Amino acid sequence: MKKIQIFCVLILLATISACNHQTKKASNNIIVGKDYHSYANVDEVIITHTDLTFAINFDDNTIDGSNKISYKRIKDGAKTIVLDSRNLTIHGITSVAKDGNSLPLNWKFGQTDPALGKAIIIDLPKGDDSQIVVNYKTSPKATGLQWLKPEQTSDKKHPFLYSQSQAIHARSWIPLQDSPQVRHTYSATVTLNRNLRPVMSAYNDPKIKKGAKSYHFDMPQAIPSYLIALGVGNLEYKAISHRSGVWAEPSILDAATEEFSETENMMQAGESLYGKYAWETYELLILPASFPFGGMENPRLSFITPTVIAGDKSLVSLIAHELAHSWSGNLVTNATWRDLWLNEGFTTYFESRITETVKGKSIMDMEAVLSYQSLVEEMQDLSEKDQKLALDLRGQDPDDAFSNVPYDKGRMMLDWLENAFGREKFDDFVKTYFNHFAFQSITTESFMKYIEANLINKYPNIVSMDQLNQWVYQPGIPDTAVLHETDLFNQIDLLTKQWINNEINTSQLPTNEWNTQQWLYFLNNLPETFDHDSMVELDSHLNLTDSKNSEIAHIWFLLSIQNNYKKSFDKIEKYLTNIGRRKLIVPLYRELAKSDEHKSWGQKVYNNARSGYHSIAQATIDKIFE
Ligand code: BES
Ligand code: ZN
Repeated sequence: MKKIQIFCVLILLATISACNHQTKKASNNIIVGKDYHSYANVDEVIITHTDLTFAINFDDNTIDGSNKISYKRIKDGAKTIVLDSRNLTIHGITSVAKDGNSLPLNWKFGQTDPALGKAIIIDLPKGDDSQIVVNYKTSPKATGLQWLKPEQTSDKKHPFLYSQSQAIHARSWIPLQDSPQVRHTYSATVTLNRNLRPVMSAYNDPKIKKGAKSYHFDMPQAIPSYLIALGVGNLEYKAISHRSGVWAEPSILDAATEEFSETENMMQAGESLYGKYAWETYELLILPASFPFGGMENPRLSFITPTVIAGDKSLVSLIAHELAHSWSGNLVTNATWRDLWLNEGFTTYFESRITETVKGKSIMDMEAVLSYQSLVEEMQDLSEKDQKLALDLRGQDPDDAFSNVPYDKGRMMLDWLENAFGREKFDDFVKTYFNHFAFQSITTESFMKYIEANLINKYPNIVSMDQLNQWVYQPGIPDTAVLHETDLFNQIDLLTKQWINNEINTSQLPTNEWNTQQWLYFLNNLPETFDHDSMVELDSHLNLTDSKNSEIAHIWFLLSIQNNYKKSFDKIEKYLTNIGRRKLIVPLYRELAKSDEHKSWGQKVYNNARSGYHSIAQATIDKIFE
């Protein structure tokens, strides 16, 4: 009984959130709340639940799927429902009435676009109580799935499959309304033709082991389509606490559980800031190294790159980030991809607050300085249009528009507000904001209206709406920004200067005392080019070419390419072949492509590595070598 009540409340919330979008025009004629990346007719009808059936086939890398859709008319008399799809073969679409009677429905493909895919226009059955069943098959090239051969996994023994739906790839493996302003619950039944374990962004029962006939999943909370996620591999589970744990291949399970042992502390830090964790369990799925992102906040089950398992817990802010999305993003969701900063800016801010609690203020400050530096550097190459928090992505594939702006500029705006109002008032505001919009998808403009009433006007004469508008709608970083500073980096500035002026030699650098963030700062702030002897000296004293830390190695390899330090090149090739995380490999390929000398070598390495990369990474790097 209780379950049914919760279910109804969630459906109601899903409905409200879909109605919440406005049709106001922003200055550049953008229709606020309109999703320019979906064909779905969400003003007429919205999905309230999808019941999925997946037969996963590792022989031909396809999924035979069926999606039984429950929906609700928003507009009386709505005659069609429009779904998004991409590269799907549709076998048939039927309606199923309450009594089980099934009838074929008329449907056709509508508009097509290389980035958006194909609309499916389906005639709705009469009345409101039937469901719609779409039977379909995915393509082996589905952009939202990566099928890995055993040699591409950690254990190298079994194949692996994982999904990455954000931003608009859910439609390549499930026909649905692929827009973040629609929220619905889901259930799924999965069968496999291998002895492996599937997990989803739902409750995963660790007691259910490999070899079951089928696996059932429920996600009883309403979520947007980009958070539907699936992973299949030779996965085992190890608990971190009563509600958190790690899914990974056996060979990395212990190392990953140890690396991320602070996860429960992070959850408690999050809860004490902004209220109870809403999703009961929080697990991490450790993916093979080809995963194109650092992490993905799939609810109850964040997907995590293995490249952050450094052995010393120094890169675990990534976990704080994905966990923070449980509030900013998964609970309160951007209504369209224009509003991505509501997800990523809030999360980057929240991540730093968790890091401060769990790892200490100095680590948080160091990470803030590092991300500020990379934002400033990146902004130099961005058009003014792409420097705004509210992005105009019309006509663009959201994958191509990815930058640090929604993350770090968003975080800086929130830092500024925190500083202006003080933590007490600001924390209270953010907590109330999450509560107020929980399980809803909102636009930048809904946020602006809310903050105006509940912070700016509530405590007058602290900041003005003009200042806030500048942050959100204008390019660049406003002068009001508050910059972090730390003595631990000031010391490194001094040492670097002395080292460059030959006042101290490399062995006098106190690198034994440095943590990862100090290493990153030191290497990032060296001059781009210097003499070969200095490269040799740095490497022989500091053993950088062999660094086991993926982030440190990344910067060293950039310097190696810039300075034509050939000794690193074998390792660079290995790195580029083994890792598919965009943030770590794209800058290296860009650097290689810059000079005639290295371009053909880079191209050759890419040609060999390409088939191991996810299609999102392939698309980015193809453009570099076009
Ligand atoms: N949700 C993002 C990843 C994403 C964003 C995928 C937009 C597709 C479109 C995830 O939470 C994220 O931000 N990952 C970062 C983590 C980092 C900033 C700590 C990444 O992968 O680098
Ligand atoms: Zn994020």
